[in-house]
Amino acid sequence: MKIQIPRGTVDIMPGESEKWQYVEHVAQEIFKRARYSEIRTPIFEHTELFQKGVGDTTDIVTKEMYTFNDRKERSMTLRPEGTASVARAYVEHKLFGQVNQPAKLFYCGPMFRYERPQKGRQRQFVQIGAEAIGVQDPAVDAEMMALALSIYQELGLKEIKLVINSLGDKTSRLAHREALIAHFKPSIHEFCSDCQTRLEKNPLRILDCKVDHAHPLIATAPSIIDFLTDESLDYYTQVKRHLDVIEVPYVEDATMVRGLDYYNHTTFEIMSESKGFGAITTLCGGGRYNGLVEELGGPASPGVGFAMSIERLLAALAAEEITLPIANHLDVFVVGVGEAVSPITLKLTLAARKAGFTAERDYLSKKVKGQFKTADRENARFVVVVGEEELAEGLIVIKDMTTGTQEKIAMSDYIATLQKKQHEGETN
Ligand code: HAM
Repeated sequence: MKIQIPRGTVDIMPGESEKWQYVEHVAQEIFKRARYSEIRTPIFEHTELFQKGVGDTTDIVTKEMYTFNDRKERSMTLRPEGTASVARAYVEHKLFGQVNQPAKLFYCGPMFRYERPQKGRQRQFVQIGAEAIGVQDPAVDAEMMALALSIYQELGLKEIKLVINSLGDKTSRLAHREALIAHFKPSIHEFCSDCQTRLEKNPLRILDCKVDHAHPLIATAPSIIDFLTDESLDYYTQVKRHLDVIEVPYVEDATMVRGLDYYNHTTFEIMSESKGFGAITTLCGGGRYNGLVEELGGPASPGVGFAMSIERLLAALAAEEITLPIANHLDVFVVGVGEAVSPITLKLTLAARKAGFTAERDYLSKKVKGQFKTADRENARFVVVVGEEELAEGLIVIKDMTTGTQEKIAMSDYIATLQKKQHEGETN
């Protein structure tokens, strides 16, 4: 029997992987300019980290984690997201003790969620994310949203929108919670069994139930905005003021609750508005999580961040018909005349690569004509021909494939000639 790839995973094949590299590189450059440094945390963590961090009433923790016991019967989980791990590392490495706060960290790597696979939803996906931990300042929230947006914008996406909300502080959340319970309690029997448990445990989760999302009581549920304390409302207003001044357009959506428990105050999502995009339109999600670090045993350290999957980012680029400017040119193809020159063609190929050119040769013992055909197909800029007779005199031929001109040169001038010709080509 043929063994197939697990459901909800993909092989990123040549032709596709270049796009991933390109996107990752653009994001890294953006983070670098914003003075964010990369953090690489393990792919698996103690299960408890996500139970405590992401929240044990969330779908992610109750239904979607890849959890297993290791050989010493310790419960481990493939990370479903990156924020809990980054907060753990912030505590573990005492980053709170550093003079410069917030700690500005970014990451890029695979996450795992046992979800029903569909377009834009996989069981293994790659998130690019950023976290700023140690400061509560509306400027950091606004900057975080601008940072996420800039990744999409620098790649050329236009049909995107930023949606924001505030989930307030503890007091706001408690008042909202009571109102939600009062709202849903009389009709809770009409909801799924999960929602019935959610009612007392975490009624906010009813609002993003995948089963009952169309129930009329969801649309009429009390809005968090009406329960924000003066302080929370003021913080939210400040965040919006920053967005206005930096000219980042946004829409507000008081029903946006996000699927993770650690959020308070600012939450946001970036959605694709492209017509060609599938049913799942959220490209990026993020927000503030002021209690998370404390929950994981560190000192109270407010944080804010976002994560986006590369899968959805590439789908958005495809929907807007944007092609990435991926360079895949071949500078030099070395043609050998006769098998005896094989070591020399290899030597010249390697020398060109060492000098910074992309270089290739034939490995199928093709005739000269066939080798030229390959060079043509690969769009080689220069073809270098090595023949036994010329070689005896220390000579090789360089053919410029754009002009069709060729010249015989001393093998010792090989790299210098390539460099000169390349330079002439660039300045022409
Ligand atoms: P999230 O909303 O669960 O938030 O996921 C963020 C993004 O990850 C989504 O907007 C989407 O692009 C991508 N994503 C999630 N699940 C899948 C999937 N099954 N297949 C493909 N892409 C997916 C978080 O993970 C938070 N840690 C974000 C955050 C960082 N909040 C603060 N800091």
